[in-house]
Amino acid sequence: MAKDTPIYARRLGEIQPFRVMKLLARANELEKQGGNVIHMEVGEPDFPTPKPIVQAGQQALLEGRTRYTPAPGIPELREAVSSYYRSEYDLDISPQRIFITAGASGALLLTSALLMNHGEGLLMTDPGYPCNRHFLKAFHGEGQLVPVTPSTNYQLTAELVSRYWQANTRGVLLASPANPTGAVLDQPTLRQLYELVQNKHGYLVVDEIYHGLIYQQTGKRRNVSVLEVGQEAFVINSFSKYFGMTGWRLGWLVAPTSAIEELDKLAQNLFICPSSIAQYAALSAFSAASLEIMEKQRAAFAERRDFLVPGLKKLGFSIPVTPEGAFYVYAGLPPGSGLSERFCDDLLEQYLVAITPGTDFGFHLADEHVRFTYAEDMTRLAEALERIEKALG
Ligand SMILES: Cc1ncc(COP(=O)(O)O)c(C=O)c1O
Repeated sequence: MAKDTPIYARRLGEIQPFRVMKLLARANELEKQGGNVIHMEVGEPDFPTPKPIVQAGQQALLEGRTRYTPAPGIPELREAVSSYYRSEYDLDISPQRIFITAGASGALLLTSALLMNHGEGLLMTDPGYPCNRHFLKAFHGEGQLVPVTPSTNYQLTAELVSRYWQANTRGVLLASPANPTGAVLDQPTLRQLYELVQNKHGYLVVDEIYHGLIYQQTGKRRNVSVLEVGQEAFVINSFSKYFGMTGWRLGWLVAPTSAIEELDKLAQNLFICPSSIAQYAALSAFSAASLEIMEKQRAAFAERRDFLVPGLKKLGFSIPVTPEGAFYVYAGLPPGSGLSERFCDDLLEQYLVAITPGTDFGFHLADEHVRFTYAEDMTRLAEALERIEKALG
């Protein structure tokens, strides 16, 4: 083998590291050295997992729920997720269509394995969640990035999808609310996208991981799911964000009926099953006691967003559309701030505020943008704004 020949698979050259994890590692290192770091980098709620869920997890351990479960998850949890669609969205989703997975990541992996032929791809936004194109790449597919701007609320539209659809495009992957922009798709746009993709005999995948964390609307039906529009979409969701269970590694996929058999096969081979303990714990995630805790957290996130967005604007950051959901603010750097990676490195090293450069989320104007996570309390956010003001001079 020639000296410079890569020893592992060639496709790895096209899979970039998730930079935020490196930033987090450095922030933790600075903290270990005694630095008072404000964490606004990683996409994880600062609240602990709600107590009823933790207690159910403890109980599961005590009861010896530590063995393999069915590959698509325990029937009780699939039923519970199905009931959640009934109470939250007025939807009747058969538990057979619900696959419990190792986080939304497991659901994205299953979906990528299911949909990708060699050299085919899915359209997705740039900026967007960076792992998506790498999941596809792992199965010899590609993320086909579509630059999006505030003019379309940083989301895809039917017009953009028609314009960017190529001969090897197999479908569209959306996220609402989105990471890093917090942008939410409204029902008419979702419907147009769903119908367009159906007409093209393509696949529509919608990542709804930030459902529950939306701040604009009131009333019970806080989130518009693509499943309200049609049953042929693939829906990704997770217990990580709204339910505060990042480290438990649990999520789910709702699939069209036609995909159940193949997904079952893939889930058996790739994972055997999701974590048994996490599944039994998650049975308590939909209880009134848990929901009450999570709704309080949602109110706290809303308050933080309403504080941070004007605060950043005052410092010269550009935030042309107010993020409606998730816990992120995607902002244009003030003029003269330099490139985003350098800006983030300096802000961390000199002012101990960790934020994520736009380059983690794609290529389009990435050097001019950064993402702030508001998973710190109000006092810490105020302190962060003061430090950033100093950094800007
Ligand atoms: C849009 C989006 N999808 C999926 C994930 C993966 O989440 P998890 O695997 O923890 O459920 C994340 C994590 O930040 C995300 O932001």
